[in-house]
Amino acid sequence: MKLPLLCWTAWSLVGGALWSEEPSPQQPPPAMRLEPLTANVIDPRDSPSTPEKVTLGRLLFFDPILSADGTVACATCHDPRFGWADGRSTPLGMGGAGKGPERVPIRSFNLPPLVRNTPTVLNAGFLGLVAGAPLVPEAAPLFWDGREHGLEAQVAHPLNAAAEMGGPLPPQNALESAAERLRSVPAYQRLFQAAFGEVDATITGKRLAQALAAFERSLKAGNTAVDRFLGGDPKALSALSRQGLEVFQSAGCAHCHGGPMFSDFQRHVLGFPDGERSAVRTPSLRNLTDTAPYMHNGALRSLEDVLAFYDQLQDTVSETLDGGDDAAQPPLDPLLRRLHLRTEDIPSLLAFLRDLQSPDYGRSIPSAVPSGLDVGGK
Ligand code: HEC
Ligand code: HEC
Repeated sequence: MKLPLLCWTAWSLVGGALWSEEPSPQQPPPAMRLEPLTANVIDPRDSPSTPEKVTLGRLLFFDPILSADGTVACATCHDPRFGWADGRSTPLGMGGAGKGPERVPIRSFNLPPLVRNTPTVLNAGFLGLVAGAPLVPEAAPLFWDGREHGLEAQVAHPLNAAAEMGGPLPPQNALESAAERLRSVPAYQRLFQAAFGEVDATITGKRLAQALAAFERSLKAGNTAVDRFLGGDPKALSALSRQGLEVFQSAGCAHCHGGPMFSDFQRHVLGFPDGERSAVRTPSLRNLTDTAPYMHNGALRSLEDVLAFYDQLQDTVSETLDGGDDAAQPPLDPLLRRLHLRTEDIPSLLAFLRDLQSPDYGRSIPSAVPSGLDVGGK
């Protein structure tokens, strides 16, 4: 039992009230335990991390040579200056210039706009980590809808996506075309050799993906005030924030946002307005201070707005779940019945969420990339 006594007591106090309120034939699922992020990342068996692989992956991450026209890098959208996201509601890849929210279109490719908010790659190595279960790197559920699995497999997506890095006519196999471009850069030949061994160090799409993933797994951002508190230091949180932690549990947030990442990594239908209702993977609540705007379409600018959404949501949930719902839409998640947020609890909850911000994650940007192109893209 890793929870400090304080929270456990608070939880059991409200627990009784929550359970008895609903005479359900099934036992309601208990809220998830909150845990500090103390785990080590787990590498895929066929790609152990080495400092050389991480060094290579970092240069690749910032090098726009990976995009079809040499203007967009992974770091164009996952920029350390914006919490390794882009500070925008939705990203602008191909045809843009500038950083983060200041990025503007300078060339029109007539591509359909990107509609999903860019998630941070901080703690990417812990996606899928839940309490009491081993982390399987190849099975890590990625993207807002959890449709891809594993950081290595993810790499091909932005390379193939026309509006991200692929351009109007993405090649058949964008991963291999990118590898081909890298083969013409002598510095990359040396870096791949150092990372993958002298004998057999051809630059391939697979190795490109392995190096990028190794770099992403190095972006750990724990050691927050909440981690220290859950790890046993009662002074790590202010009184307000401790109150927020209790609210977080009693208000039902921990039913979905639990475990060391404050996510169950399951998909839930919250009905956040976006044309059609869709099931969304619970996002981690770590490092939110640096990753506004929020939600899968980036529609909410502040954490205050997110909590106002939850405050309103619980009013509509019971009527919706008890009938009167649009049968053509997927039903709202039944766990939302356990939401008990009081407007007066919002300030403490905000203090708690802000204490899930890591003070000391890596933000360094290479001064140059081997292709000689603009670091981090145009
Ligand atoms: C044009 C902006 C853009 C570029 C360039 C880009 N990404 Fe992303 N990235 C996104 C968006 C948007 C998502 C979410 C997509 C979704 O959920 O459908 C995402 C998701 C991810 C995720 C999953 C995170 C999670 O929480 O599930 C990882 C990992 C990632 N990107 C890494 C990379 C890497 C590596 C590159 C370079 C090869 C890259 N991205 C290039 C915008 C971008
Ligand atoms: C039924 C599961 C569930 C419950 C209960 C729940 N959440 Fe969420 N939370 C989600 C999902 C799913 C999303 C993403 C929704 C979307 O983007 O449409 C989300 C999004 C968020 C975000 C935005 C994160 C980001 O990066 O965009 C915050 C903050 C948040 N929740 C906090 C809370 C708080 C605080 C509570 C309790 C009052 C709570 N959640 C209760 C599942 C849940």
